[in-house]
Amino acid sequence: MKIVRILLILVVLPAFAQQGGMWIPSLLKGPNETEMKALGMKISADDIYSVNTSSLKDAVPHFDGGCTAEMISPKGLLLTNHHCGYDNIQSHSTVEHDYLTDGFWAYKMSEELPNKDLTVTFIIKIEDVTSKIFEGVNNLSTEVEKQKKIQLNIAAVGKSFPKEAWQEAMIRAFYDGNQYLLFVTETFKDVRLVGAPPSSIGKFGSDTDNWVWPRHTGDFSLFRIYADKNNRPADYSIDNVPYQPKHFFPISAKGIQENDFTMVMGYPGRTQEYLPSFAVEQIVNDLNPAKIEIRDAALKVQDGFMRKDNAIKIQYASKYAGVANYWKKWIGETKGLKKSNAVALKKEFEKKFQERIMKAGKQAEYGSVLADFEKNYTEIRPFAIAKDYFTEVVLRNSEILSFGYRLYQLEQVYNSRGEQAFTDRKNNLIAGFEGLYKDYSAQVDEKVFEQLIDLYTSKSPKQFLPESLNNVNASSLTTGIFGVSKLTNYDGLKNILSGDAKSVVEKLNQDPAYKLVKLIADSYQKNVAPKFDEINLKNIALQRTYMKGIMEFFPNDRIFPDANSTLRVTYGQVKGYKPSDAVVYEPVSYLDGVIEKYIPGDYEFDVPKKLIDLYNAKEYGKYADKNGKMPLAFIATNHTTGGNSGSPALDANGNLIGLNFDRVWEGTMSDIYYSPEICRNIMVDARYILFIIDKFAHANNLIEELTIVYPKSKKSK
Ligand code: ARG
Ligand code: GLU
Repeated sequence: MKIVRILLILVVLPAFAQQGGMWIPSLLKGPNETEMKALGMKISADDIYSVNTSSLKDAVPHFDGGCTAEMISPKGLLLTNHHCGYDNIQSHSTVEHDYLTDGFWAYKMSEELPNKDLTVTFIIKIEDVTSKIFEGVNNLSTEVEKQKKIQLNIAAVGKSFPKEAWQEAMIRAFYDGNQYLLFVTETFKDVRLVGAPPSSIGKFGSDTDNWVWPRHTGDFSLFRIYADKNNRPADYSIDNVPYQPKHFFPISAKGIQENDFTMVMGYPGRTQEYLPSFAVEQIVNDLNPAKIEIRDAALKVQDGFMRKDNAIKIQYASKYAGVANYWKKWIGETKGLKKSNAVALKKEFEKKFQERIMKAGKQAEYGSVLADFEKNYTEIRPFAIAKDYFTEVVLRNSEILSFGYRLYQLEQVYNSRGEQAFTDRKNNLIAGFEGLYKDYSAQVDEKVFEQLIDLYTSKSPKQFLPESLNNVNASSLTTGIFGVSKLTNYDGLKNILSGDAKSVVEKLNQDPAYKLVKLIADSYQKNVAPKFDEINLKNIALQRTYMKGIMEFFPNDRIFPDANSTLRVTYGQVKGYKPSDAVVYEPVSYLDGVIEKYIPGDYEFDVPKKLIDLYNAKEYGKYADKNGKMPLAFIATNHTTGGNSGSPALDANGNLIGLNFDRVWEGTMSDIYYSPEICRNIMVDARYILFIIDKFAHANNLIEELTIVYPKSKKSK
C-alpha cells in the first residue's frame, strides 16, 4: 500500500512538485511523511514531533522571538546565526573590546557573558483548539463582533488549558483564521554568549553579499541556556546551571551532495502565499517601490558616515543591517514576482477558483470574494501607500521622528489614562532612551531626515499631507529642527521629561521636532489609519473565506498555512539553480571563494590573517571534504523565510548538516509566490562551523561538548 503510494507520487508528480511549503510539525503524518520518505528521509514523523518521548522539536527553540536556534550539546549549548546574536554581541562591544570586529570565545563557562532581556522559547506541545475558539462565533452578525468573541475565547482557552506553573500557553491562527492551534511553551531567560567569530567571518560579504548566492558567510554564533537546579526556566543567577535539553542534534561531518534530502525546522515569521492578484499587483507596483526608495536614501547617508568613522560604524552597524536587509529583499522580491509572472499566474488560478465555485453551486458563499477583493484593493491603495510612508519615514528610518513618536504616544497616555500611567510610561521611556541615544548620532540623523522629509512631502499621497507641509523646503525645515530641538541628545530629552505631566507636555509642545511629529501623526491618525483599518478588516475576513474556498475546491493541492512565527518543518533537496539565461549556480561553495573575494582592509570583504594562513596550509582537520577542500555553504529547495535564520538544516537521519541563514536573491519572492526553479535557502555547512570553532578559535572546550558524526574513513584518524 505504502509502496504504491510512494510510486504514485514519484510517477504522477513532475520532478519539482514535491517542494515548497512550511508544515506544522504535529501534523506531518500522512502525505508529508510519505513525501519526505520518498525524498530520502530515514526517520519518521514521530521522531520529529512527539509529546511523550523526546523528539527533534525539543531541540529547536525560538531565539529572542525573531530567530531560530538549536541545541547541540547536553549542556545547553545553542547554535544560531551571527546576525541573530548580533545585538547581543554588539551590546558587549566597545571600541576597546570590539567583539563585533575581533570575535569572542569563552574558553570556560565562567567567561560566558549574560544578556539582559534575551529569551529562548521551547515548544512542549501543540493542540488543535479550533472548535473551542469558534464557540458562539458563527451566530454573531458583524465581523467586529466575531473577532471580539474569538479574542475572548482565545484568552479563556489559553488560561484554562492544563500546564505547569513555569509554562505558558499561546494560541495562533492558521489558514487565515480557519484553524487555531495552542502551543504550550517554556521560556528561558538566562542565556549567555559563548562564542562568535569576527564579523569578517560571521558577516563576511555583509550587505553586498546579503541575499546573494554564491555566498561565503560563516553566519553563526553560540550561546548557552542556563536553568535552575530543577532544569526549569529562571532569571539570571550565578547559581543557575547549564540546561539539559530533552534532545540535542549530533553534528554530521559527512557532508552533502546535490539531491540529498534536507529538512529545516524553525520559526518562519510571515508569508502571504494566498494573496489575490490585486494585492500582489499593489506590492509590485506601489508599495515595494515606495519603501525601497525611502530606505535607499537613508542607507546611502548612513553608509557614507560609517565608512569614514569607526565610532559611528559601531553605533549604526546593527540598525543599518536591519534596514538594508529588507530594502534588498524587496528589490529581489519585486524582480522575482515580475519575472515569474506571479500576477498573471494568480489571475489564472482565480479564474479556476471562480469556475469551481460555479460548478459546486457555491456562489452564495464564495461568488463575490474576488470581486470584493478587487474593489477593496482599489479603494485601499492610497491609504496603504500613505501608511507605508508613515511607517518608513516616521517610525523606522528618521530617528528623531521615531523618538518624537514615542513621546507623542506618551502625551496620548496622559490624555487618556492620567498622571500615574503617564509617569510609569515616562520612566520606562527614560530608561529605554538611554540605549537608543548611546547609538545615536545627530549628525547622521540630520542628513537622513533631510532626505526623507523631502520624499515624504513630495511623494506621499498629497491628499493626506498636512497643509503646512505642502511645498515645504526640506533643507530649511531640517536646519530649523536640528538647530533647536532638544531631542538631538539624551540630556535634552531628560530635561524635557523632567517634571510633572503638565509641564512635560508643555515643554514637548514647544519643541520643533515634537511639533512636526504631532502634525504628521495627528493627520495620519485622523485621515489614514481609520479608513485603512476599515478596509483592511474587510480584506482579512475575505482572505479567510478565500482560504476556506481554496481548501475546499483544491483538496489535492499542497496547501500549507502561511507562516506565523510558529514552529514549522520544510523539506527539499540540495540543488543548484539557473538564475538567468546561460548562468548556472552550483549548490556548494568553498573557502576558496573567500580568498577570491578577499579585499584587504575592506569593511565587507576583509579576511582575518589567521583564516588565510589556515587556507594556505590546508589545515582543515577532519572537516575537509573528500577532495581536501573546505566546504562553506550550500543551497537547497527548502521553503524558508525571515525567522528561519538560525534554523537547523538536517539530513535524512536528523543530524545537523548546516545552519540556515538566508535565501537567494532571485527567489526572495517565495514569501508571496514559491517557485521550485529559483527559490533556494542558504545554509552554512556544519563542517565550516566546526572548522572555525576548532582550528580558528581553538575552542576545544566546545568541540568536546559536541557529538560529531564522522564519515567512516575519518573515524580512526
Ligand atoms: N538576509 C538575511 C536575513 O534576512 C541576513 C541578514 C543579516 N545580514 C545583513 N547583512 N543585513 O536575515
Ligand atoms: N536571514 C533571514 C532571517 O533572519 C532568513 C532569510 C530569509 O528571509 O529566508 O530570518
